[in-house]
Amino acid sequence: MKNIKVGLLGFGTIGTGVVKVIQQNCGILASRLGATIELARIADLDTTTDRGVELSPGVLTDDAQGLLNDPGIQVVVELIGGYEPARTFVLQAIRNGKHVVTANKALLAKHGDEIFAAAEVAGVDVMFEAAVGGGIPIISAIKENLGANNFYAFYGILNGTCNYILTEMDEEGKDFSDVLDEAQKKGYAEADPTFDVEGVDTAHKLALLLSLCFGTKVDYDQIYTEGISNITALDIEYARDFGYKLKLLAIGKRDGDKIEARVHPTMIPEDYPLAAINGVFNTVRLVGDFSGPVMLSGYGAGMNATASAVMGDVLAVARDLQTDCGSRMPALGCPQSELLPLSIKPMEQIVTHYYLRFNVKDQPGVLAKIAGVLGEHEISIESMVQPHRHEAEAVPIVFMTHAAEERNVNAALAEINKMDVIRDETLLIRVEDHLE
Ligand code: HSE
Repeated sequence: MKNIKVGLLGFGTIGTGVVKVIQQNCGILASRLGATIELARIADLDTTTDRGVELSPGVLTDDAQGLLNDPGIQVVVELIGGYEPARTFVLQAIRNGKHVVTANKALLAKHGDEIFAAAEVAGVDVMFEAAVGGGIPIISAIKENLGANNFYAFYGILNGTCNYILTEMDEEGKDFSDVLDEAQKKGYAEADPTFDVEGVDTAHKLALLLSLCFGTKVDYDQIYTEGISNITALDIEYARDFGYKLKLLAIGKRDGDKIEARVHPTMIPEDYPLAAINGVFNTVRLVGDFSGPVMLSGYGAGMNATASAVMGDVLAVARDLQTDCGSRMPALGCPQSELLPLSIKPMEQIVTHYYLRFNVKDQPGVLAKIAGVLGEHEISIESMVQPHRHEAEAVPIVFMTHAAEERNVNAALAEINKMDVIRDETLLIRVEDHLE
């Protein structure tokens, strides 16, 4: 039986999971592949911590260069994370003719162009199933099984930390900071949760899905990114009263030569399938012109689920190596020369529905003044509530609008926020009402 040698860069949680899959499922892998997969080297600066797995002597090293320059290693798995030295190592592996498997969404969202172009020149694969949605096979589904479809839109719940926090806020009526605190104590949320709760992690994943679904390069910095730290349990309760659930959504839509690329808290109808995705689960729902809607759901993070996705990629690369077919699958599903020059639609041009929560002084005429300004800016009100809630002399007033252009909403809010009856900055949450 042929033997395929794999080198692993980074021996953290996911790296340990990869070792476990290879050890536990070596028989299954070998019979499915008709070859053995050997973890020839693992490079990590920390060679002493006990990860709870047995390795053959000499496998674990702190010498990444030795791994990258080992002519026997055909596949390099990068699980270091972050930009550097991951970028340098990945490019070096590619130049050395090695196929690359990575879970590094931040690296690919920012430096994907450079890495994918280098891989095409070198004729090697760059696979990254674990970078989006952990154990969910969304990338191979888009590139392969759904590859005959034109995609119009997709929606993703792509961050388990945020979905867990929003679920707890919804079910327990707790505030954001209390749930985050608990999640950190239980080890569900990172010690520094900024990337997760401010939507950055979701935006990294969105950048990759946009490229894959719409066949275009995406300037990650142009993706509109708003997290969940301003959301209160009250907004979730009001959303429920209006018949909505609140989720942090990654939204990708194609509109001619423009795409919508946005990450923000979003109210969605409570009977829409994504509304039922709770806790740490991730889900992507995409709409192909022939397939219709397809929804994939599963663990978006964690040692086992992520290692499963990494090893699925290793298996795919190993199969190509078995049949000597080089780089069969372009990283983004189409050759670099075929990528379309689509641009991201500015947020000002987005048309959607809006939830607007004003915190106002409770006195006659306030409601009429606010409604007047909204009307002057072509914003039509669909419904409105003034909940019985006083805080000192202030009360909330909540409006749901019909579809409006974001430029008009911003102009109206700029005017309204200057009124002396407004107590706090108005909260705006976008509402996606007509999802496919
Ligand atoms: N920290 C992410 C999450 C997983 O909470 O879903 C890695 O992207």
